[in-house]
Amino acid sequence: MRRTDIVTPNGSHPYIVGEGLLSRAGEFVADSLGRTTKIAVVTNPTVAVIHAPALVESLTSTGFDVQVLELPDGEEHKTLETATRLHCSFLESGMDRRSLVAALGGGVIGDLAGFAASTYMRGIDLVHVPTTLLAMVDSSIGGKTGVNLPRGKNLVGAFKQPVAVIADTATLSTLPPVEIASGMAEVIKHGLVGAADLFEKLDEGRPDDLSDIIHAAARVKFAIVEEDPFERGPRALLNLGHTFGHAMEAASGFTLRHGHAVGLGLLASARLAHSLGLCDDTLEGRISRTLAVHDLPTHLDGLAPSRVLPFLASDKKREHGTLRLVIPEEPGRVSIVEDPPGDLVLGALSAVLPD
Ligand SMILES: NC(=O)c1ccc[n+]([C@@H]2O[C@H](COP(=O)([O-])OP(=O)(O)OC[C@H]3O[C@@H](n4cnc5c(N)ncnc54)[C@H](O)[C@@H]3O)[C@@H](O)[C@H]2O)c1
Ligand SMILES: [Zn+2]
Repeated sequence: MRRTDIVTPNGSHPYIVGEGLLSRAGEFVADSLGRTTKIAVVTNPTVAVIHAPALVESLTSTGFDVQVLELPDGEEHKTLETATRLHCSFLESGMDRRSLVAALGGGVIGDLAGFAASTYMRGIDLVHVPTTLLAMVDSSIGGKTGVNLPRGKNLVGAFKQPVAVIADTATLSTLPPVEIASGMAEVIKHGLVGAADLFEKLDEGRPDDLSDIIHAAARVKFAIVEEDPFERGPRALLNLGHTFGHAMEAASGFTLRHGHAVGLGLLASARLAHSLGLCDDTLEGRISRTLAVHDLPTHLDGLAPSRVLPFLASDKKREHGTLRLVIPEEPGRVSIVEDPPGDLVLGALSAVLPD
């Protein structure tokens, strides 16, 4: 088990990762809160049936008054309507300002339950219990919560720091392989952004011990969000692979998975970095090999680079007329380029979108 205290504008909270932690959750929550209270475990039917019993048992035996609230599974339910349903359930079950929300699930549950906790009675305590690789290394860290609007993702939300993050790596044994691969794209990204040794390890093959790599990947995000808690500057570095990735996701009509798009985006950004003379000629090949080792695609058929360009252009419009791309210079070091030449951007996309 590894524990790190993350410093936030509201104090600090522990991030604990290890095998079998669900059965110790009661102890961790009691330590963080310093009292017992009513807890709503917010989850979905997929996760509830497998992982809620161990968490509920641990919290109950520590003296907490626990109920489980299930929301439907899926990104399409990450809406204000679902958050409102949660608020009403909190009220019906007598939760007050001293009650606590425990988000048990992936990023969708974390974002929804976190948003509901941040707004119910002007904000009640939250614990993240992430059960996907993405949620462990990304969405449970940094305090962003939110829901989607019909016009776009994550358009309504709030910053809400949890009182603890409890990441039980045993829960990942039930996660479908494609979800592990998707989360691995974010882990590889974190290695490139700020942990050369993590990237080396991933480049060498599949790690036996996920706790170590989760902790190493999470640390990259801790450091950046500690420096930039409200996303005003350096946190943009975490967008490595995401500007290209989002444009490809959108151009595919969202048939391309987020993690797959991020992996392809990492490769495209390495091609761009090389064409700008900002990285050596081995980096793209190393990223490509690492993606393949972790079951991530290295190219996508049937999507022309020219179809992706309009989505990059709309990103540029949103960002007040500047296309800002994060590029890798070497594992562990990234920089930002502004408005790179259009032919180089097209060339970068061609690296992953062959004609
Ligand atoms: N707040 C942030 O900073 C932040 C950062 C990145 C992503 N996000 C958000 O996270 C969401 C994506 O999260 P995700 O990739 O975890 O997807 P997800 O929450 O939809 O989970 C993926 C699938 O795995 C299932 N699942 C979860 N844990 C399981 C387990 N242990 N065993 C079996 N099945 C399990 C879920 O029910 C779901 O069907 C998006 O909405 C995205 O916007 C938020
Ligand atoms: Zn991502």
